[in-house]
Amino acid sequence: MEINYQETSKDLLTRIDIHEKYGARNIDQWNTEVLNPQPGFKILDVGCGAGKQCFLFSDHTQGQVQITGGDFSEELLAKAREKMAQRGDKNITFQFLDFNKKFEFADNSFDILSSAFAIYYAADLKFTFSEAHRVLKPGGRLFVTGPLPENKQMFYEIIKEATGKPIPPMPGSSRFKGEIFQTIDGIFAKTELLKFENPLTFPEVAPFIDYVRASLSEDRKLWTSMFNGKEEYEAMIKSIETVAQRWFDRDGKLVMTKVVGGILATK
Ligand SMILES: C[S@@+](CC[C@H](N)C(=O)[O-])C[C@H]1O[C@@H](n2cnc3c(N)ncnc32)[C@H](O)[C@@H]1O
Repeated sequence: MEINYQETSKDLLTRIDIHEKYGARNIDQWNTEVLNPQPGFKILDVGCGAGKQCFLFSDHTQGQVQITGGDFSEELLAKAREKMAQRGDKNITFQFLDFNKKFEFADNSFDILSSAFAIYYAADLKFTFSEAHRVLKPGGRLFVTGPLPENKQMFYEIIKEATGKPIPPMPGSSRFKGEIFQTIDGIFAKTELLKFENPLTFPEVAPFIDYVRASLSEDRKLWTSMFNGKEEYEAMIKSIETVAQRWFDRDGKLVMTKVVGGILATK
């Protein structure tokens, strides 16, 4: 399956910021708690984006782990390197990695391979997760997070009501629990599914619309079946805003619950 998905640093950083401001819980803290990296560990973060997870692993161990962050977006890698320069980390490397190609690492290299909201976009799941398995040490752990089908119901309901159109298939949520879990389970010795819920409470409509814009933006190519060009995009956002305002007036707030699955597998 060819997935023509892209991420820009502007849209990604806007969504991260909104999660931090309005979310009740912190997903990265959850990742770190589940994996609990120990000093001396070698960690690979696949689809690292602007490096958020890499910095957390490093902070969690006071810089006592070796971290490689890989992404195919040079724009996001540049952001990650910029942040690393500000922080002064010496134990993190950011490098180009396309998870649809062979990983450029030797067999049995890493204690942990994490991928937050990224690797499930892989075109050939069996190939990509076999690569993940290959580069992990025996007993090493894979942790992949992604949306479950019940994720962000309010967000999708408002968009459906506003547009009258079906939501385009999301590569993550439609296959995370099924195809992705099964593929990993078929390759790794032990696999379990964990669940994380994080309600985002918007005290007004505007930040919700910022989130909508950073999700549906043309650049990401996930939602383009719903509009044709800039004018139609703006008209769609306007209708979404009207419906969101109606929901807000009725309920006094807008609550969007992120329901995240974490697949934890051991080699
Ligand atoms: C939603 S972002 C998540 C970023 C980061 N893990 C985080 O939690 O902030 C998805 C990431 O996957 C990356 N990505 C998408 N396709 C990729 C591919 N084929 N190879 C490597 N990275 C890819 C994007 O560039 C983006 O950084």
